[in-house]
Amino acid sequence: MSDKAFTVQLKRETLRRRTFGIISHPDAGKTTLTEKLLLFGGAIHMAGAVKAKKASRHATSDWMAIEKERGISVTSSVMQFEYGGYAVNLLDTPGHQDFSEDTYRVLTAVDSALMVIDSVKGVETQTKKLMDVCRMRDTPIMTFVNKLDRDGRSPFELLDDIESNLGIECAPLTWPIGMGKLFQGVFDLRANLIRFFEVETKGTKPREAAVIKGLDDPELDRLIGEAAAADLRRDIELLEGAGYPFDPERYLAGRQTPVFFGSAVNTFGVRELLEAFLEYAPAPRPRQAESREVSPFEEQFSGVIFKIQANMDPAHRDRVAFLRVNSGRFSRGMKARHQRTGKDMLLHNAIIFMAQDRSGVEEAWPGDIIGIPNHGTLRIGDTLSGKEPLRYLGIPHFAPEHFRRVILKNPFKAKQLDKGLEQLTEEGAIQFFRPAQGRDQILGAVGALQFDVIAARLSAEYDVQIITEPVNIAAVRWLASDDAVALDRLKRDNQNAMVTDADGHPAMTFASEWRLEKAVEEWPQIRFLATRECV
Ligand code: G4P
Repeated sequence: MSDKAFTVQLKRETLRRRTFGIISHPDAGKTTLTEKLLLFGGAIHMAGAVKAKKASRHATSDWMAIEKERGISVTSSVMQFEYGGYAVNLLDTPGHQDFSEDTYRVLTAVDSALMVIDSVKGVETQTKKLMDVCRMRDTPIMTFVNKLDRDGRSPFELLDDIESNLGIECAPLTWPIGMGKLFQGVFDLRANLIRFFEVETKGTKPREAAVIKGLDDPELDRLIGEAAAADLRRDIELLEGAGYPFDPERYLAGRQTPVFFGSAVNTFGVRELLEAFLEYAPAPRPRQAESREVSPFEEQFSGVIFKIQANMDPAHRDRVAFLRVNSGRFSRGMKARHQRTGKDMLLHNAIIFMAQDRSGVEEAWPGDIIGIPNHGTLRIGDTLSGKEPLRYLGIPHFAPEHFRRVILKNPFKAKQLDKGLEQLTEEGAIQFFRPAQGRDQILGAVGALQFDVIAARLSAEYDVQIITEPVNIAAVRWLASDDAVALDRLKRDNQNAMVTDADGHPAMTFASEWRLEKAVEEWPQIRFLATRECV
């Protein structure tokens, strides 16, 4: 292929990519919405995988369940489908028992996010945490308010909840007509359409949407009834006075979220969401490396590892490293330089995620994810690229939120424990810290159930039995400062609280959030960091 033809193809393929993740609190409807999106994309067998994954989620400490889940989750970690000429990559953001640092890190590998809010419950804790991660890169977010078929909060209250709790402007693009048993559908503000809601039952065809000539059209009263029409007119008037008009620029800057209302289980409002998403969500954008910004349209292939997943065969320490392509084209069998070690790697057995037809797919483009099987060479944060020494930034470790002390049942197995912890922490779902004083080993995780997972895996893969016990730590922060004297003083004054992480980086623990806030106040020369670059 000529250089010019390649440049044109690279541009075309990049611009039609949409790589995103879903943020939500458990039970808001992420799995249901994912399935519906996949069904629109024709990736029906992947929809089955999503359900299977959920079904296998029960017993986290049950080894078989973890094994089974791993097999499924490698394939359902990235779901790609085609719709309307776009190639969509949906990255799974594990949310229940498997909620972990991975969930956060996936959000650093996407170009935008979809937020699902339960109309009954409003903004919940996990959504808030995930939103904070999105904010690190000003990731654009679209919102789907789900379960309108239930009696939930009023739409104004929900918007207020999102704006005040998540600090983002809401710009509704559809507006609900009634709610719960009285839910009739939504008014599509852009198209002046009424979309009618119907409970989904097999074989029924949804009622056609009706175009109206503005809200004053008497047809509206006939279609939804006078009372509902009066309510809708009043709502939209209020919205026009006090709401934010949709501004694509503000959406792309992560300042405003377009809001859609619907019911995922009834496939209502999902198509409009998907179509608006494809129209407005960003294609892959330039990514920051240490030395410079890298445009996706550069011909040189480059990408960054954002997730490591243990593969099915634990005896072989078999792992799949997930790489996001940031520039150029990946093609099977190509060589790329592993920048941390400076060695070239032959990428012949990479998994290219493709929902419809995996066979015959030989290449991947910016925004796509490939899985690279390896035996531990590849770590989270590693860059693969051509000869230019690139090191991508922005794939961090996140400060854990739960902590436990490791108690080794058989003290003669200390070496195996060290080895096991070293290898398992490299996968990135859990971290471990050693206090500056004493011999404790502290595990830290973003999702508390990871402690069970780690104990089960240490036992099965390393034949090391541990229990974990509570420890008086509520937060940890990595330390950085331009003032070496102040940093030394902080360490000296707080020796009991000093720890180092698995890679030897200094950090400080806090018994409460309050103590952390106090330290931040008292030590303005020190940066207390909630994230640390992985490499
Ligand atoms: P998650 O992945 O965010 O955890 O949520 P998931 O999709 O599994 O949905 C959680 C529950 O909410 C499921 O019910 C699901 O059917 C239900 N749900 C999803 N969307 C809607 C909706 O629009 N309206 C209503 N009323 N319910 C919705 P479940 O009983 O836990 O499971 P299932 O047996 O129905 O699958």
